[in-house]
Amino acid sequence: MSEMAASDPEGIDGVRMTWNVWPRTKVEASKCVIPIAAAITPIRSHPDIPPLPYLPLRCKTCAGVLNPYCRVDFNAKIWICPFCFQRNHFPPHYSMISESNVPAELYPQYTTVEYTVSGNPAAPAAQPLPPVFLFVLDTSVIEEEIGFVKSALKQALGLLPENALIGFISFGTQVQVHELGFSDLSKVYIFRGSKEISKEQVLDHLGLGASAHRAAPGYPKAVQNGVPNSSVVNRFLLPASECEYTLDMLLDELQTDQWPVQPGNRALRCTGVALSVAAGLLGACSPGTGVRIIALVGGPCTEGPGAIVSKDLSEPVRSHKDLDKDAAPHFHKAVNFYESLSKQLVSQGHVLDLFASALDQVGIAEMKVAIERTGGLIVLSESFGHPVFRDSFKRIFEDGEEALGLCFNGTLEINCSKDIKIQGIIGPCTSMEKKGPCCADTVIGQGNTTSWKMCGLDKRTCFTVFFDISPSERSNPPGTSNPQLYLQFLTNYQNPEGQTRFRVTTVTRKWVDGAVNTEEFVDGFDQETAAVVMARLTSLKMEMEEEFDATRWLDRSLIRLCSRFGDYRKDDPSSFTLNTSFSLFPQFMFNLRRSQFVQVFNNSPDETAYFRMLLNRENILNSVVMIQPSLIAYSFHSLPKPALLDVASISSEQILLLDAYFSVVIFHGMTIAQWRNAGYQNQPEHRAFAQLLQAPHDDAQMIIQDRFPIPRLVVCDQHGSQARFLLAKLNPSTTYNSAHDIAPGSDVIFTDDVSLQVFIEHLQRLAVQS
Ligand SMILES: *[C@@H]1O[C@H](CO)[C@@H](O)[C@H](O)[C@H]1NC(C)=O
Ligand SMILES: *[C@@H]1O[C@H](CO)[C@@H](O)[C@H](O)[C@H]1NC(C)=O
Ligand SMILES: *[C@@H]1O[C@H](CO)[C@@H](O)[C@H](O)[C@H]1NC(C)=O
Ligand SMILES: *[C@@H]1O[C@H](CO)[C@@H](O)[C@H](O)[C@H]1NC(C)=O
Ligand SMILES: *[C@@H]1O[C@H](CO)[C@@H](O)[C@H](O)[C@H]1NC(C)=O
Ligand SMILES: [Zn+2]
Repeated sequence: MSEMAASDPEGIDGVRMTWNVWPRTKVEASKCVIPIAAAITPIRSHPDIPPLPYLPLRCKTCAGVLNPYCRVDFNAKIWICPFCFQRNHFPPHYSMISESNVPAELYPQYTTVEYTVSGNPAAPAAQPLPPVFLFVLDTSVIEEEIGFVKSALKQALGLLPENALIGFISFGTQVQVHELGFSDLSKVYIFRGSKEISKEQVLDHLGLGASAHRAAPGYPKAVQNGVPNSSVVNRFLLPASECEYTLDMLLDELQTDQWPVQPGNRALRCTGVALSVAAGLLGACSPGTGVRIIALVGGPCTEGPGAIVSKDLSEPVRSHKDLDKDAAPHFHKAVNFYESLSKQLVSQGHVLDLFASALDQVGIAEMKVAIERTGGLIVLSESFGHPVFRDSFKRIFEDGEEALGLCFNGTLEINCSKDIKIQGIIGPCTSMEKKGPCCADTVIGQGNTTSWKMCGLDKRTCFTVFFDISPSERSNPPGTSNPQLYLQFLTNYQNPEGQTRFRVTTVTRKWVDGAVNTEEFVDGFDQETAAVVMARLTSLKMEMEEEFDATRWLDRSLIRLCSRFGDYRKDDPSSFTLNTSFSLFPQFMFNLRRSQFVQVFNNSPDETAYFRMLLNRENILNSVVMIQPSLIAYSFHSLPKPALLDVASISSEQILLLDAYFSVVIFHGMTIAQWRNAGYQNQPEHRAFAQLLQAPHDDAQMIIQDRFPIPRLVVCDQHGSQARFLLAKLNPSTTYNSAHDIAPGSDVIFTDDVSLQVFIEHLQRLAVQS
């Protein structure tokens, strides 16, 4: 890899692949062990992507878009599509093209371009629709929590663009939809929390329904010819500039849920009905797609559809053990409910964001489908007063440098060369069920389609596409056909300003005959991407496949990979070496086995669902940190330097900074902590010590600023109780008794907490076995 590529491995295309050369056949692909997959960040921002103020040229046979890999006959004014080999004539307005005058989309460096005009007459043109924020607030929380969340909401209102439309729903035992159109008289529509409610019932009750107007069935008069009827919409969704005062007063008066809670019971909380009502209201009122439901939830749903636990406190909220034993009576029912809610939201093009702030679980595991399928944001913290909630929530509404750049109404289409099939996508999207010739029979994640909906996405959102190699009988034998393969990613979306954009990324890679060219595979392996893809696939299998043994599967895969690509003499473990392009991979697998993604029993189902949603949507560099945290050591003797993720890195005269993605830990060695407690840093002669203390804090802030959700910051001392946040992530090298041995013929390296050294020894032994 060149230095440039190493510093920005995603490049202009936002694409990284497990393998950068591809095997020709299914058999060779399976010998590669690690699946052929691409992690794509379809609307990654990059300064070199040219904006093109005209419509794309598309192949008349396969709809592929003109790109630098097309062969062009300048005399005949013809371009040949690299996907289907169709010859296409340039239209008359391209008549000026020649070798010395080519349009930007044919420049070799513009493998990614973005068209800025919309070919879609239905899409918003000059006058983009305003963004819509519908807040859905849980009031079945204690006084202190409602105080925190009110102040966060008030701050958010101050940051919203003036034209943004705001709606407000509160819920507890019942759901209250607040009409914001009145400033002196507050009007509220109440919905019972105990019963499932249809879209039509929601609309009738709000006076928006078809029967209320005796109009034709289907969606009401709130929207006509794409133009919202302001007198209807204004009752529930108002521009921020017009409702700020009303909403401010409403928040001042808002109390916690007033229904009495019997001793031995949980508070009633009808989260499911509240979200149904929100989705129904938006379906009627909002013709646009820049629409987010922002759910602020402070405890488990105990009432009506979507309930995850009964109100009886003697029934505990489901754990991983319960889910494993199928002893979670509410789970499947609640998941089904959220699945149908997600279908409704996806068909409306609307996004569900969840801010879960509670010590208890709120039901993220059940709601995951609705959040992930709509591309919603998720933030988990223990209180509405915690910085993880407060700072993350604020980030959504900020603009300028800090802005998340939230985009809407995305669709992704993928085209590929003959012989390549798409198995599916892991990531925040929904299949649009458009089956095409390049769909594989075996499905991974959202599959059986060549296009996907992304109701919400941003410049960091990452998707993992899995490919299958499936040469048709009529394919040319190896060596005679095109040595290059092509993939095209076509992304339509609305940017934060509401303008439609069409991003086209075309990538090429080389086909290689694996039987004779192992070196090329070795060179083309991207071990970081491979580790992340394995983590995503493992997480998916753990959710989908009963009895899936993640540790065993990872061990087997690793052993097979090392047997295939390692250098060794048969049955001689000491001869085993790995090429540098594989050398980090065993350690990634070692840490993945120990991580929250595989060792789920150390966490709640909500936490696991949360970790996995973020794993699936972050880019490769961030996801690697989730799997294998980074550690930096600060001391008097040297500049800050990377340290081994090992207990041996702890020293009394060092400060360690651990970045585990979800948390950032500053850990003071014992001596450092004693000096700090004695106040040395305040004495002028110990300025260097003050600087040493400060440096990890500055670096932690840099990490935190760049991330969404904001990670939890833990500052602790050696032997303090919080030190476990660091210790849990370190290789237990000095505590492990390495007398263990493996059973002959075993393919599992170890099931308990072995050290990295022992893990690698066993791996070498098993990999060289004949
Ligand atoms: C490319 O995508 C379009 C639309 O999904 C589809 O009709 C066409 O068959 C695809 N072409 C190839 C070569 O897969
Ligand atoms: C959303 O995207 C789809 C597909 O790109 C498009 O047909 C539709 O018109 C878009 N909707 C809006 C409101 O822009
Ligand atoms: C808008 O809604 C109001 C109230 O339902 C109705 O009286 C009015 O005719 C509607 N206007 C249009 C243009 O549909
Ligand atoms: C894929 O589609 C086929 C029909 O086209 C269907 O039989 C099959 O069940 C689908 N597979 C999945 C996993 O959705
Ligand atoms: C790694 O493999 C490449 C390609 O086969 C080779 O050029 C290089 O020398 C190898 N490096 C090591 C350390 O074996
Ligand atoms: Zn074509």
